[in-house]
Amino acid sequence: CLRRVDTFLHRGIGTKVVAAQTEAAVKHDSVEKNDGRKSLYAVQAERQEQAERSVLISCYSRIKHNMFLKYLSRHGDIKKHFFYENNGVYAVVEFARQESVASLLEGASIPRVSQESVVPFKSRLLSLRNLDSGESSNRPSSQRAQPQTAPTINDVMQRLSKQESIDQQITQLTEAYQLTEENISLRYLVCSLLKDVAAGYFPECTIKPFGSSVNGFGKLGCDLDMFLDLDGISGQNMKMPTPGLCLEYQLKMGNSERATTQNILSVIGECVEHFAPGCVGLHKILNARCPLVRFAHQPSGFQCDLTANNRVAMKSTELLYLYGELDPRVRLLVFTVRCWARTHGVTSSIPGAWITNFSLTVMVLFFLQKRSPPIIPTLDELRDLAGPADKSVIEGNDCTFVSDFGNIPLHGNTATPGQLLREFFDFYASFPFNKMSICIRKGTEQNKPEVAPLHIQNPFETSLNVSKNVNAAQLQRFTALCQESAWLSCQSQTMMPKSKRKMIESDEFTSRNISRTFWGVSCGLIWILFEHFIREGWQEKFQERSVWSNICGHLLAHIHPFRKLIRIS
Ligand code: GTP
Ligand code: MG
Repeated sequence: CLRRVDTFLHRGIGTKVVAAQTEAAVKHDSVEKNDGRKSLYAVQAERQEQAERSVLISCYSRIKHNMFLKYLSRHGDIKKHFFYENNGVYAVVEFARQESVASLLEGASIPRVSQESVVPFKSRLLSLRNLDSGESSNRPSSQRAQPQTAPTINDVMQRLSKQESIDQQITQLTEAYQLTEENISLRYLVCSLLKDVAAGYFPECTIKPFGSSVNGFGKLGCDLDMFLDLDGISGQNMKMPTPGLCLEYQLKMGNSERATTQNILSVIGECVEHFAPGCVGLHKILNARCPLVRFAHQPSGFQCDLTANNRVAMKSTELLYLYGELDPRVRLLVFTVRCWARTHGVTSSIPGAWITNFSLTVMVLFFLQKRSPPIIPTLDELRDLAGPADKSVIEGNDCTFVSDFGNIPLHGNTATPGQLLREFFDFYASFPFNKMSICIRKGTEQNKPEVAPLHIQNPFETSLNVSKNVNAAQLQRFTALCQESAWLSCQSQTMMPKSKRKMIESDEFTSRNISRTFWGVSCGLIWILFEHFIREGWQEKFQERSVWSNICGHLLAHIHPFRKLIRIS
């Protein structure tokens, strides 16, 4: 198991919502579902409310933990708190009531500085200063500070090496990297702090996290995608005109929805850059398909992407969250595949021709839909199960799908996570990417509608390809790595004691393995010869004797058992 995991890890605004959610839908979404699981809307509403009652305090002074809490509790009961370290110690303190935050801010003072250059913008990001400098140096950080960064690969390796099966390792890997409760609270608090900035212009706005911060697939250290939601002001909240006199707001008209979004983000971005404490390095990326402003929030260490008018991405997030909640294996597999891909350089934090985490997640979902029996339903099936309150059409795209987990039938597939991981590699090692498109709406391959190396249909904007950026070389790399990982997992499987391989049917395994090895080796040989002749030139080199020794060298370097030996030696 250790060798197997070692090998895997070490290689390597104003949107026109035509028929969006009605008030009834919002109510429907904010209640807990029958089976105890909550919809993303319900989770978000609860977490946003908690974040509004919270403050972020930089604790540079050396003060006793109890004294710190006693001082704060003069303003009201503290519901939750935690400390974390990020170039200093910070405390996130959630009060039981909103009035406590107001009282605390009332009592806070403006720092004295020698030059008169402070921006007088007050926020819930505070600093605790030498309240009692004579106290001992028992910093709150010592035992109680929570890590907000991902563990090192060595730590993870150690944890994994103690596990007895690949299934346990997959679970451990997920537990080691997934966002902690505290990290999620911090993400909502940062959104809430930024909402206070945007509220200067749009008092009724909200800023919601989306993407991997909330979809259940986030890894410690992932970016914080934020959505400036102005639908409370425009769009959804439009009141029906009543007969008789009525007053309406005079509103400024923008040239287009996109231009309005760009202007709003530009102005809010300026405010964030110049007024919001802790926000640095702002870049406006307003000409992107989805305009955004990017900046770093220093106290939390998060890289933030603020977007607006991005309801479809919010829907994608909700869909991914739903799939992750349906079956625990979804999250385990997505996590493991994302980690595998990152470690092998299939995905990258730098934008480019790489497969993105979002595309990769859709690929995992598609693979799970293709199991027999399917592990998760198709998006069309989820749409057919939707009730009237779930209806959602955004910019002409049908984004309707059921939100009540209890209404979704599952088919009793009992494959283990480890088995699914091997099957994932097998599946994509031989997927006909040249002809077919991946479509989680239908749950079956579709003919590719356009020439792109990798075509993954956008689940909601179905004419779009979410992996348009991926070039042929990157796809080829992904396929080759899947082939290799499939091969390696088969090898380690055969080396395991029989008792630990009970999930694999031996006959099926053997015949599949033989045919895969045969095709893998044949394709590899052809590719190596082709690659060699292209590089070296056909005619001249063909007569040279050294060409054959080069080819032998290539063969040794490419065929797995030899590669392993070469690497070891
Ligand atoms: P990491 O940030 O890499 O951890 O994953 P992420 O899921 O947050 O991806 P990313 O930050 O790139 O995008 C944030 C969210 O925007 C995703 O979760 C999707 O909901 C959505 N998104 C990203 N790319 C696309 C795309 O190409 N099409 C659509 N429809 N939505 C996308
Ligand atoms: Mg993200």
